[in-house]
Amino acid sequence: MPSTATTSRAQSGDPGSPSEPAKPDAPATPGASAGGPIVVPPGLAGVSVTDTSIGHVRGREGFYHYRQYSAVDLAERRTVEDVWHLLFSGELPDSEQRAEFTARLAAYREVPAGVRDVLPAIAAAAPAPLDGLRTALSLAGAAQGMRPMWDLDEVARREDALRLCAQVPTLLTALHRLARGEEPIPPRPDLPYAANYLFMLTGTEPRPEHSRAIERYLVSTIDHGFNASTFTARVIASTGADVAACLVGAVGALSGPLHGGAPSRALDALDAIGTPDRIDAWVRDRIENGERIMGFGHPVYRTEDPRSRLLRRTARELGGDLVEFATAVESRVLALLAELKPDREIHTNVEFYAGVVMELCGLPRTMFTPTFASSRVIGWSAHVLEQARDRKIIRPDARYVGTPPPQPVPEI
Ligand SMILES: CC(C)(COP(=O)(O)OP(=O)(O)OC[C@H]1O[C@@H](n2cnc3c(N)ncnc32)[C@H](O)[C@@H]1OP(=O)(O)O)[C@@H](O)C(=O)NCCC(=O)NCCS
Repeated sequence: MPSTATTSRAQSGDPGSPSEPAKPDAPATPGASAGGPIVVPPGLAGVSVTDTSIGHVRGREGFYHYRQYSAVDLAERRTVEDVWHLLFSGELPDSEQRAEFTARLAAYREVPAGVRDVLPAIAAAAPAPLDGLRTALSLAGAAQGMRPMWDLDEVARREDALRLCAQVPTLLTALHRLARGEEPIPPRPDLPYAANYLFMLTGTEPRPEHSRAIERYLVSTIDHGFNASTFTARVIASTGADVAACLVGAVGALSGPLHGGAPSRALDALDAIGTPDRIDAWVRDRIENGERIMGFGHPVYRTEDPRSRLLRRTARELGGDLVEFATAVESRVLALLAELKPDREIHTNVEFYAGVVMELCGLPRTMFTPTFASSRVIGWSAHVLEQARDRKIIRPDARYVGTPPPQPVPEI
């Protein structure tokens, strides 16, 4: 896979004096041809680091896609298993392929006994399911003998990724229940992905409208451009490591508050506001004090997040007081942000209605981010498989800006 870095060039930093760190040169303009390493903007913002045929986000248009299809259309029309097939194989399944793929995935949901036996200890030591997942996923890879991708062919790599993705919901729901002193509920191979997820969480077969709403959320969050966790997974994949190692690293990246987000925080804000008459005062106070309103704004979208449109529709279909209240809060927040931040384009993001939908479907707030991880692991895996086809290790450079070497090593 060719690199397509779109960057600026600059010579390496001025060494400065020995007593103070050298100051880096300001990055030169894109396309400058000086001989030093290429200097990219902070956070690699706007830099294309590779080619992908998995999907992309068009921030200005408010559009994102998986392969050649609108992700929102897929979320409305297809199952998790169909989109999983699309990302792994490059095409949507026909009905025969769907039946075969769905049955295969269902058979992979059980976790190996050696992992199942230690889940109570993991849940006791790490009550947050996403923390426990890092350990459990690592163990699942090792317990199933997963070998470095460097040593495997495409079929074997794909097999490892399928197994781990299928086991993540089983691990997460088991860790959640164990942390609450409840017995894990084994997967039901006769249920499709989303219904089985809710079943393993609660022990009761979910209402079809809840399964469908969660399925829409899961499909809409499977992939979203070259975000931090996806990039992390691909960096690890580029070393030839095993699939589990890539996914464990990605879970770690996702757990950070700047990335994994917290749909629960948007819901906490609704709780804090409490009643419609308090919306304006609460929101105005927060914005005037420089605080952020959770569920609004996005680093890439400069128009409405298409996932928020989808989930607003989903929430309205489910209906109820919470949806009415959330809609009222949303419209006042948008009006107040427009008034108080007139030079910004701030719209509702995915987190606002994701929290509402998950709450309406009976998911506990502690499972909001883990539920996000359970779908995103499929996207990470598709990227890992794509990256593994490129045998080039990702190994950038960093400008050294410390005290210029070599300094004499002091004697004690
Ligand atoms: C997502 C987020 C981190 C993007 O930040 P960003 O890339 O810096 O966003 P922008 O460059 O578009 O805008 C930054 C400016 O808009 C304001 N802004 C952005 N989102 C805001 C929000 N939700 N509430 C209030 N002000 C907001 C910031 O205060 C900042 O203004 P300032 O420079 O005057 O302080 C930010 O919008 C945010 O913190 N949102 C709330 C948290 C959230 O919902 N996270 C989930 C994201 S999916």
